[in-house]
Amino acid sequence: MPTAVPSHNRSSLAHRLRYAARHPQRVVPYLRRHLRDWRLQRRSGGNHIAYYRAVMKSDTARNPLGAVGTPSQERWNALGRMQFDYLVGHGLKPGDHMLEIGCGNLRAGRHFIDYLETGHYYGVDISPDILLAAQQTVVDHDLQDKLPHMTLVDDMRLAHLPGGRFRVVHAHSVFSHSPVHVIEDCFRHVGRLLAPGGFFDFTYNRTDGTEHDVLREDFYFRPATLIALAEKHGLAAHTMDDWDDLPHKQSKIRVTLPAPEEAAGKSGERAQTPDGDGEPSGSPA
Ligand SMILES: C[S@@+](CC[C@H](N)C(=O)[O-])C[C@H]1O[C@@H](n2cnc3c(N)ncnc32)[C@H](O)[C@@H]1O
Repeated sequence: MPTAVPSHNRSSLAHRLRYAARHPQRVVPYLRRHLRDWRLQRRSGGNHIAYYRAVMKSDTARNPLGAVGTPSQERWNALGRMQFDYLVGHGLKPGDHMLEIGCGNLRAGRHFIDYLETGHYYGVDISPDILLAAQQTVVDHDLQDKLPHMTLVDDMRLAHLPGGRFRVVHAHSVFSHSPVHVIEDCFRHVGRLLAPGGFFDFTYNRTDGTEHDVLREDFYFRPATLIALAEKHGLAAHTMDDWDDLPHKQSKIRVTLPAPEEAAGKSGERAQTPDGDGEPSGSPA
């Protein structure tokens, strides 16, 4: 059965008081996190990437597995495997080139690296700390011969990567931590990277109520908002309802390049999103 979609606003005082009453043992850790996040936000001067990079630094220092959302080794293994099995079930082939945006410490990436041909895996992340943890994952799983590419980035332009190369682009649990301008920046550029027939899958925190965030760490969106945003940048998008059958709280959307005739029909709109085509670049970083 598909996961029920929450419609309550987790940032509201009423929700927080109800949550505190139900989980009194979590109040002190929540307040500590709130204080830490407030300090990090002040230091990053409103720059979300700088802020989230600092969050990742602090979380990775505590536990790299927890920094990507699964503090136990067992859950880390399970979440990585789930992502891998899903994409293989959706046609990922060893000869594909794959880009993972927000690769973290290769929770899923280690499976992709192992499965894909040598040099076909590209991971990018905004956090140097988690990329160092990713290198350790490569060592721990003897994946050095697969020559995975892992690059630190500062924004979603991904200008260092070749156009039209990637049949699969994947971002798991990244837009769940991203404000809308970062997501839009990704949509502005990801079309340039996709190979013909390729797709970009991302997960997000779904709400059917008011869109909101919690501590600027977790963001909740209506699917229609994200689909419309992708379409604004000349992409096609639809929800992946089979993902909702899996034991995971986030939902998934797939973005593709529209068929050429469909794109041609949209006069005045961009069919693809190559760099330098007149769209001003956003500035999340
Ligand atoms: C919850 S972790 C998930 C990591 C990995 N996708 C996985 O499933 O194991 C989110 C990751 O996305 C990275 N991240 C957040 N915002 C990003 C952005 N705008 N561009 C690239 N990476 C980002 C974080 O540094 C972190 O490593």
